[in-house]
Amino acid sequence: MTDKIVIFDTTLRDGEQAPGIALNPDQKVAIAHQLARLGVDVIEAGFPVSSPGDFEAVKRISREVTGPVITALARTEAGDIDRAWEAIKYADMSRIHVFIATSPIHMEHKLRMSEEEVMAAVRTGVARARDYTDDVEYSPEDATRSDPDFVIAVCQTAVEVGATTINIPDTVGFATPSEYASTISRVMTEVKGEREDVVISTHCHNDLGLAVANSLAAVGAGARQVEGAINGIGERAGNTSTEEIVMALTVRKDAYGVEVGVTTEEIVETSRMVAEKTGYPVQYNKAVVGRNAFAHESGIHQHGVLRKRETYEIMDPVSVGFSGSSIVMGKHSGRAAFKHILHGMGIELSPSPFEQAFRRMKRVADQTGEVSEAQMQAIVDEVVTGTEILQGVTESFQ
Ligand code: KIV
Ligand code: ZN
Repeated sequence: MTDKIVIFDTTLRDGEQAPGIALNPDQKVAIAHQLARLGVDVIEAGFPVSSPGDFEAVKRISREVTGPVITALARTEAGDIDRAWEAIKYADMSRIHVFIATSPIHMEHKLRMSEEEVMAAVRTGVARARDYTDDVEYSPEDATRSDPDFVIAVCQTAVEVGATTINIPDTVGFATPSEYASTISRVMTEVKGEREDVVISTHCHNDLGLAVANSLAAVGAGARQVEGAINGIGERAGNTSTEEIVMALTVRKDAYGVEVGVTTEEIVETSRMVAEKTGYPVQYNKAVVGRNAFAHESGIHQHGVLRKRETYEIMDPVSVGFSGSSIVMGKHSGRAAFKHILHGMGIELSPSPFEQAFRRMKRVADQTGEVSEAQMQAIVDEVVTGTEILQGVTESFQ
């Protein structure tokens, strides 16, 4: 049977930790409903101890949003864990996500704790969470800069006292894909071992632009949960992008051999909602959801796509929620695409005016970059009437 990857979305927790984002409870609930429509398996709804507003938002999500497991983050302190449970206990399926750092730099400068103290905190924190629910996740923060033997030891302890998901965070985006895969392999052998009920998870940050590559390397090494955020938002350079992971595992199922249970057609709507509510725009060339992800401007590509979409597209834009590919008029565009756009506007020109209009479009494109439908209409009107309509483009089209 094909393994299923648990898609754990942390847009509402780690994603919201991006500088300048502060979602109110209504906004968080709306995004959580959309994540449920998208079909993610786990929603990390927030960090309830961090603020009364976040507590309220997580509580409302656990009451109102059905489908995914609802989880909340907690440090190993009793107060954090109790607060997390208070907020998520209403959900049909609730998970507590407990974390404490294991790297020398975090233990010495941030926590001011020894390895023995961190180990003891993992033992008591995870056990306390397990008293509330049998779905407990543990993360050794900054795992990829920690002593590997210590990471293994704390994760073994976490499993011993009841954790069923062990998440290995590359907190500062430091790991390379091969290093991260080796770490996951070791955790698979020495922590999961024969335990069917224990899932190994990946959580990557994008400081070196490697978050998605590292997450995929982890899946190759046996991880069966991937944590990510919509549009890749999160601390600093962000998290693994949920939509990129989903589409990489879907489009390249031949390479990874795993299933995801996500309704991919909801991806674009989710991305737009997150962008709108967080105020973080999506870069034009962002994989899967950028406005140019399925746009073609150069003549050769346009010609290919118009004949057969797959010549330059590896996934169907409709499968992620776009209405289709887009042919963009610009200085690199060719006659086939120009004709196609005119046809779409209900305009057919005979050869001579067509040629005049095409040359005119190129001159406009040299000045404006992209040529809009309104400009196309003006160009056609100029050719047909012989008068200049477009301002600032002075050359005659004769
Ligand atoms: O990046 C990180 O280490 C985290 C943990 C709290 C899981 O977000
Ligand atoms: Zn993180």
